[in-house]
Amino acid sequence: MVVNKDFAVQMSGITKRFGTNTALDHVDLNVQKGSIHAILGENGAGKTTLMNILYGLYQPDEGEIYLQGEKVDMKNPNVAIAHGIGMVHQHFMLVENFTVAENIILGQETCKAAGILDMKKARQTVNELVEAYGLEVDPDALISDISVGMQQRVEILKALYRGADVLILDEPTAVLTPQEIKDLMGIMQRLVRAGKTIIIITHKLKEIKASSDFCTIIRRGKWIQTVSLIEVDENKLADMMVGHAVKLKVEKGPAHPGATIFKMEGVHAKDARGVKALNDLNLELRCGEIYGLAGVDGNGQKELVEVITNLRKTDEGKIIMNGEEIQNTTTRNTMNHKISTIHEDREKRGLVPDFTVEENVVLDTYMKEPFSQKGLLKFKPIEEETVQLIHDYDIRPDHCEKDPIRGLSGGNQQKVIIAREIANDPDLLIAVQPTRGLDVGAIENVHRMLVEERDKGKAVLLISLELDEVMSVADRIGVIYDGHIQGEFKQGEVDEKTIGLLMAGGSIS
Ligand SMILES: Nc1ncnc2c1ncn2[C@@H]1O[C@H](COP(=O)(O)OP(=O)(O)OP(=O)(O)O)[C@@H](O)[C@H]1O
Ligand SMILES: [Mg+2]
Repeated sequence: MVVNKDFAVQMSGITKRFGTNTALDHVDLNVQKGSIHAILGENGAGKTTLMNILYGLYQPDEGEIYLQGEKVDMKNPNVAIAHGIGMVHQHFMLVENFTVAENIILGQETCKAAGILDMKKARQTVNELVEAYGLEVDPDALISDISVGMQQRVEILKALYRGADVLILDEPTAVLTPQEIKDLMGIMQRLVRAGKTIIIITHKLKEIKASSDFCTIIRRGKWIQTVSLIEVDENKLADMMVGHAVKLKVEKGPAHPGATIFKMEGVHAKDARGVKALNDLNLELRCGEIYGLAGVDGNGQKELVEVITNLRKTDEGKIIMNGEEIQNTTTRNTMNHKISTIHEDREKRGLVPDFTVEENVVLDTYMKEPFSQKGLLKFKPIEEETVQLIHDYDIRPDHCEKDPIRGLSGGNQQKVIIAREIANDPDLLIAVQPTRGLDVGAIENVHRMLVEERDKGKAVLLISLELDEVMSVADRIGVIYDGHIQGEFKQGEVDEKTIGLLMAGGSIS
């Protein structure tokens, strides 16, 4: 590799091992100044690890880093920040009960004489940044009161406040709504125009194609290629990433729906703030059918799942599974009625990060045979089950059954949850954003598995903010708006425009 000062960042021969697992194997990365450079690779390929090394969070076992031709020893994030590197992590690191401005200046506070915090100056600096890059936020709002998209802006502002010239964004769009994604793309363009360099990790090929100049592909810890995005299309990107041709379309036969297994009748419920979130919601799910729920985030999807799983009180109405009412009982009762849920927030609802993969696999079933007998855990069956799931669901690295799950890459953690919930053999599988953070190959697998569950005669409720996903996977599509089902269609009976209209609260008559 030739060291050249026109590159904002050059990483050369980076190798990183975790125990016996080589996460990165002599990877090179050359990022041109003022460009948007995407990093693409399957779940567990090593993308986050590579960026954590650039940001000084991990030390490489081999390899060097050059910034504009100068070799830098990234001992820790302070060194990285001092050299103008900023990173927005996938999981934000904000203080919830601080304001936007307080979060931005945290750790870099300017003080007046006698050590008193100069909030006026801080607010002014924040406002200048907001104006310069079109990153509108309210400096006085509390973090806990603003949307995820806004929180992300705060993270970007925080990096800019620390003088970042190179901004690393790790899966920034995974948590955003389609509108927020559009806004972020605009912000990225403005940053680049102002001379900043952006390195972005994302699994969304469409976004890479639309936003980036270059893309480096990593496969299983190895550098594969760096391409200019003028030269390749989405299919080519997917193939390079996985190493073989990927179908970007869902393949499935027609559904053969059976009896209604699950019903919600006139359900009303409030959200966490006591505001009405479900408003006379009626829903019927049938065996052998995938029901896709489309809707803009915040229209009751979260509360819908919470009332079914008994994490939230139902104020009025009935929730009936297999002929029995389950509303206002317990989460255990929901599970005993053979309802499994892939929750939206895997950190909060899906996993115990410090537990091993094995322990996470039997979280709901450890007290049942064959995993325990006479009140004692049986370790052998637990291990066998986990090894089987790791194999069936292509969870990487292999042999991770005894590792704490927090060491797995985000996408592989997601695969563990999906494997566990399907292995619990539910009659109704609720999948909320099941493919969030997954690579295109893994997405194909998850979609196939949902179809397989359907073909086994199970009912599947797919809740997704991605309209494409709902339209292509679901057999029947419902639109939720303001806590109410606004319309229902069979697949193929409706176009995206109509669904979009209903999602925005319009009506068709
Ligand atoms: N702190 C850690 N301890 C042990 N192993 C780790 C640690 N961090 C990463 N790894 C391993 O390094 C490999 C690469 O993980 P990384 O998180 O970089 O993947 P990724 O490409 O970002 O995947 P994803 O798309 O799923 O986020 C994985 O095999 C992962 O298990
Ligand atoms: Mg990652």
